[in-house]
Amino acid sequence: MAVRLGDIAPDFTAETTEGQVKFHEWIGDKWAVLFSHPKDFTPVCTTELGTVARLKPEFDKRNVRVIGLSVDPLSDHREWTKDINETQNTTVNFPLIADPDRKIAQAYDMIHPNALDNLTVRSVFVVGPDKKVKLTLTYPASTGRNFDEILRTIDSLQLTSRFQVATPANWKDGDDVIVLNSVKDEEIPAKFPKGATKIKPYLRTTPQPDK
Ligand code: BEZ
Repeated sequence: MAVRLGDIAPDFTAETTEGQVKFHEWIGDKWAVLFSHPKDFTPVCTTELGTVARLKPEFDKRNVRVIGLSVDPLSDHREWTKDINETQNTTVNFPLIADPDRKIAQAYDMIHPNALDNLTVRSVFVVGPDKKVKLTLTYPASTGRNFDEILRTIDSLQLTSRFQVATPANWKDGDDVIVLNSVKDEEIPAKFPKGATKIKPYLRTTPQPDK
């Protein structure tokens, strides 16, 4: 069964490169990114994991824990990590789940047999402190992910969880945002003291409220 937006992220206990992880407990009151890659010792995956390691301070700044997964054994994760560190000029600084029996991959529907036989595709799940799935992405093996985009979506998810706003196409932190249509015009001065621009009755923008 697919894991959908708003679902409670399936909980699990897993062996990782940083010891045993009980997923929900490990998230605690933070946000989390669980992402799968197809296979250790492969080129695109090597660049992806190096990129996540380099971006770790950006995830930390946003109160987000990051955890990777593939169906490879822990011994391979450990050996491959040395290659990632050497070739990507970084230190892998987040846990990697070993899921050789594919239990977690199946719970999250990360194996798409018509795309890639018996290996996880490039799935991403952003999970909130309430353990609910806030965002999912699925990329094929041939396309490395843009982790700056994942940080951008986290900025949007965190902002829109705090204010009655949505973020427009290509929005980035600091840009104007959209006032939700559930907010009445007369509520705007109290809720958005910087004011709003009414382009259409259903399209009202306001400066980002927490800036
Ligand atoms: C890669 O990371 O380069 C890769 C992994 C699995 C299949 C194809 C490519």
